[in-house]
Amino acid sequence: MVNYKDLGLVNTREMFKRAVAGGYAIPAFNFNTMEQMQAIVMAAVETKSPVIMQVSKGARNYANATILRYMAEGAVAYAKELGCPNPEIVLHLDHGDSFELCKDCIDMGFSSVMYDGSSLPYEENIKISRQVVEYAHKYDVTVECELGVLAGVEDEVVAEESHYTKPEEVIDFATRTGCDSLAISIGTSHGAYKFKPEQCTRDPKTGKLVPPPLAFDVLAEIEQKLPGFPIVLHGSSSVPQDEVDTINKFGGNLPDAVGIPEEQLRKASKSAVCKINIDSDSRLAMTAAIRQYLAEHPDHFDPRQYLKPARENMKKMYIHKIKEVLGSDGKLG
Ligand code: G3H
Ligand code: 13P
Ligand code: ZN
Repeated sequence: MVNYKDLGLVNTREMFKRAVAGGYAIPAFNFNTMEQMQAIVMAAVETKSPVIMQVSKGARNYANATILRYMAEGAVAYAKELGCPNPEIVLHLDHGDSFELCKDCIDMGFSSVMYDGSSLPYEENIKISRQVVEYAHKYDVTVECELGVLAGVEDEVVAEESHYTKPEEVIDFATRTGCDSLAISIGTSHGAYKFKPEQCTRDPKTGKLVPPPLAFDVLAEIEQKLPGFPIVLHGSSSVPQDEVDTINKFGGNLPDAVGIPEEQLRKASKSAVCKINIDSDSRLAMTAAIRQYLAEHPDHFDPRQYLKPARENMKKMYIHKIKEVLGSDGKLG
């Protein structure tokens, strides 16, 4: 049993309390590789922001659970080396789909876990969420649970249709599970294709897709039912058009990729939304930089040559999100 406190990590409790009160959101960036981890830490240190580094089941399968755990421990040491004496870094399990997986992560040093029972019948979701919370709280690990279904891929769970979170269920769910934060569905979804073209309008000048707005009325109702309770938004990549254009220019093929406009995330950050999940934008930033580098340097084959600009591009994107979208810069406790 490894306790996250011995690794220099923190749970989400205090940072969420401050974020809700202060009208900003904590970035939750997924990582699978060393370059992503380095870029996240560099961005957090440079902006003096708390940060959540999250690991999906897929990331554990790709990179190995033990390696990722040590990378998170290394992230704390790296932040200190970069000049931040007291970094606030959370190691979080993203979309845990069983009690056993959540327990395994808690036992190996995670400071926060998500149990995602959103695809289960309501009572089943409550039952397993409660079981995870009871175990996690013994070790002061915080737990995120989910109500409502996002369209798209939630790791192992694929949903054709999204269902907004029902505001009339949130008090009962939060009370009976004892969860520390609640992920809700108000129109975001995972991946780089968040909306079908027929759900969008087209900007007549650029021909680009303009997505429908998020359901801020549903968010407001949830906030009214659970005043001050930490709310989480998944599927919050904005799919920057310049990165998509670079990918397409240098041999990629991502037609009609579309994300959540940043001004909507800015607006959400000012509410009880205190954790915003971003993964796809990091993938796009990395892929765009690598495609461009390799196209412009066909004779290069040292991975450090193309991973360095990829890391720089992700760092630039993370800093932009922290400073210009979520507002968590300068918010270390
Ligand atoms: O919510 C999903 C995250 O973007 C993680 O994706 O399961 O492909 O690692 P992944
Ligand atoms: P994106 O695919 O929009 O980056 O969402 C990531 C996410 O929600 C991770 O849990
Ligand atoms: Zn998610």
